[in-house]
Amino acid sequence: MTAKRFDGGRRQRIIVFGMVIGIVIQPFLALYGYLVGKAFAVNQPPAKSEVTCPYIGDAEAIAEGRKLFDRNCAECHGDGTGGSGPDLTDNDWLCGGSDAQIFSTISNGRPGGMPSWSSDLKDDEIWKIVAFIRSLKKQ
Ligand code: HEC
Repeated sequence: MTAKRFDGGRRQRIIVFGMVIGIVIQPFLALYGYLVGKAFAVNQPPAKSEVTCPYIGDAEAIAEGRKLFDRNCAECHGDGTGGSGPDLTDNDWLCGGSDAQIFSTISNGRPGGMPSWSSDLKDDEIWKIVAFIRSLKKQ
């Protein structure tokens, strides 16, 4: 009899103990889940279309972009309004008009006669040209 009562008490204590541990651990698990979620969110690279030109509106960078443009691009794009290459001042983009898309067009080139510049220009220089092209934009 005494042994049975002891067993019952022990089982009850184990159950209560388990519940207490569960209640204590719960917030830590929630916090862990939150932190892991956050870490992954931070490590996720931004989608390409979200990448924006770091030099938009930066007068100095735009001036450098203009020089690079005159040296490398004017031969086909004129002053930006187009020549054998298309007008870059209108809102009519053949290959997408976001900063990232313009960057990608310049870096990778286009099959219709636009050369790739990734080996001639640094990413930084391309971004300055993107800022220059953006500054030409007609409204
Ligand atoms: C040899 C001539 C040539 C040179 C040099 C050249 N481009 Fe182009 N570019 C073109 C042609 C042609 C196209 C159209 C390509 C197509 O539609 O496939 C084009 C397309 C583009 C476009 C996309 C336009 C749109 O409507 O989507 C951008 C932006 C551009 N060029 C920027 C530049 C920049 C910046 C430079 C200098 C670093 C440059 N290009 C140099 C010929 C040239």
